[in-house]
Amino acid sequence: MQLLHDIKEENRPTYINTTDGVQPYKTQLLKWIGNKQRFAHEIISNFPKRFGTYHEPFLGSGAVLGVLSPKKAEASDSFKPLISIWQMLKSDPSTVKEWYKERWSEAQVGEKVEQYEKIKARYNNCTNAADFLFLTRSAYGGVMRFRKSDGYMSTPCGAHKPIHFGTFGRRVDEWAQRVCCTEFFHREYEESLERAREGDVVYCDPPYNHSQAILYGAQGFDHDHLFRCIEKAKVRGVFVALSLDGSKKSGTKDCAYSFPPNLFKQEVAVNCGRSMLKRFQMGGKTLEGEVVTDRLLLTH
Ligand SMILES: C[S@@+](CC[C@H](N)C(=O)[O-])C[C@H]1O[C@@H](n2cnc3c(N)ncnc32)[C@H](O)[C@@H]1O
Repeated sequence: MQLLHDIKEENRPTYINTTDGVQPYKTQLLKWIGNKQRFAHEIISNFPKRFGTYHEPFLGSGAVLGVLSPKKAEASDSFKPLISIWQMLKSDPSTVKEWYKERWSEAQVGEKVEQYEKIKARYNNCTNAADFLFLTRSAYGGVMRFRKSDGYMSTPCGAHKPIHFGTFGRRVDEWAQRVCCTEFFHREYEESLERAREGDVVYCDPPYNHSQAILYGAQGFDHDHLFRCIEKAKVRGVFVALSLDGSKKSGTKDCAYSFPPNLFKQEVAVNCGRSMLKRFQMGGKTLEGEVVTDRLLLTH
């Protein structure tokens, strides 16, 4: 009997992570369209108070990961140059600073748009994390738009000045601290969801159906397959939180998804402010009425 008791204790999930003390943190490392930086703490407030490993399979700019700053986590994305930045941030933050400083300095040497186009052309000629890092900071609105056929990045130069390398360097130091207990993987979300165990939390922020149709990874994304993967994780006792497009104040499109019955126990509305992507699509107009509300769906 004693032995059986011990085995059960051993198998019990270890709740290493907590949401206690999570504070809003608004300084982004990467500029990324659709990032959740401003409402990450709101999303996290819906997680269980204590849990096992944290998993974020659609990492992007890692807003929720950064705000949570977990003690044990796995983060992944199917976009390789992006994950290479995260992996380098973890293994050698000074190289990430150097990547940015070199390109920031290169951009000062000539006309801003011309220099941006030069760096973009170099990236398109040979995809690499160093150029991609600078592009995320200098592209229009952090819109990461890629041609489906060959991955060619086509976003024009942003109107803003990319932040100074000194400021960026300080962000690197802060973010390196926040992700020091996270492992980064280049992989599809399915594999990441499969790795989650009882007592773990998974936060999914997949490409959205309607609003992000022009973005990389959004074309042809099969939400029904994602729902099936979430269902399997839920059966194993994993807590899954999923962000999806909600209602648009002035929108006419029906953003409905068909979930398997009883997959989600709760739904919370998260106000995301104005849509940068819509603004980009409409040639820079302010779009006063375009207030976007995300849906946060919870399996428990
Ligand atoms: C909406 S963004 C995530 C934004 C993130 N929450 C943030 O705050 O920046 C969606 C991400 O999913 C990634 N993605 C798209 N399809 C994927 C797939 N099949 N597996 C894993 N990641 C994928 C994209 O590369 C993109 O980084």
